[in-house]
Amino acid sequence: MLAIIGGTGLTRLKNLKITHRQVIRTPYGEPSGALTFGEINDHHVVFIARHGYGHTIPPHEINYRANIWALAEQKVSRVVSVCTVGGIREDLSPGTLVLPDQIIDYTSGRRHTFFEGGDKPVTHIDFTEPYCPKLRRRLIKAAKTSHQQLREHGVYAATQGPRLETAAEINRIAGDGGDMVGMTGMPEAALAREAGLSYAAIAVVSNWAAGRGDSKHHVDLAAAETVFQDAIEHVHRMLEALVKV
Ligand code: HPA
Repeated sequence: MLAIIGGTGLTRLKNLKITHRQVIRTPYGEPSGALTFGEINDHHVVFIARHGYGHTIPPHEINYRANIWALAEQKVSRVVSVCTVGGIREDLSPGTLVLPDQIIDYTSGRRHTFFEGGDKPVTHIDFTEPYCPKLRRRLIKAAKTSHQQLREHGVYAATQGPRLETAAEINRIAGDGGDMVGMTGMPEAALAREAGLSYAAIAVVSNWAAGRGDSKHHVDLAAAETVFQDAIEHVHRMLEALVKV
């Protein structure tokens, strides 16, 4: 079964024929909402809205551990995260879809591991390649078969939020090698790896990051709204193709 974690602007999967919803209890507390089970083109899919179905949970308050634990318990093997980002690299303008292949984590104070407390042995997961290369290849194939344009590489910088970054912070992130900036990529990706799930992300560029693009003095979230709605359509088409490749 494929799991999809929906981010901002994706609280519902358009082509999902819903069969049922289920509230899952976890040792880590409440997930962002009930899991929604259904089918896309006869393939089983489970969906969860990362920010809650009414989009009320800010990035730093998401219970990433409960979400990943709840999905892992459903015996899902693949998890595709859909997230929005600010574009830093020149070719990542609003409306672009990008498949990040690396992460830099600037978040702090989030519950970021399953390996803590009690008498669990110390475990260090390999995180050299934070996104599953095999699942990334399938997403690239899905983009090709559904004729969606996709940038195939990029470094995702995960910031704490909920405020947006300063222009200087974006310059620093760019200097570090960051190509896009978002608030939810971590610890989600690391927890998925800890849980043994194959995980990749489709990032939708919703705006230019602070100090980039034309509006140098503020982040223009409103202007990107229509571009973003359009981009989400492309994500739906890619996900439909993904279950077939
Ligand atoms: N910064 C951080 N997170 C984001 C942004 C941004 O500019 N856009 C969408 N998510």
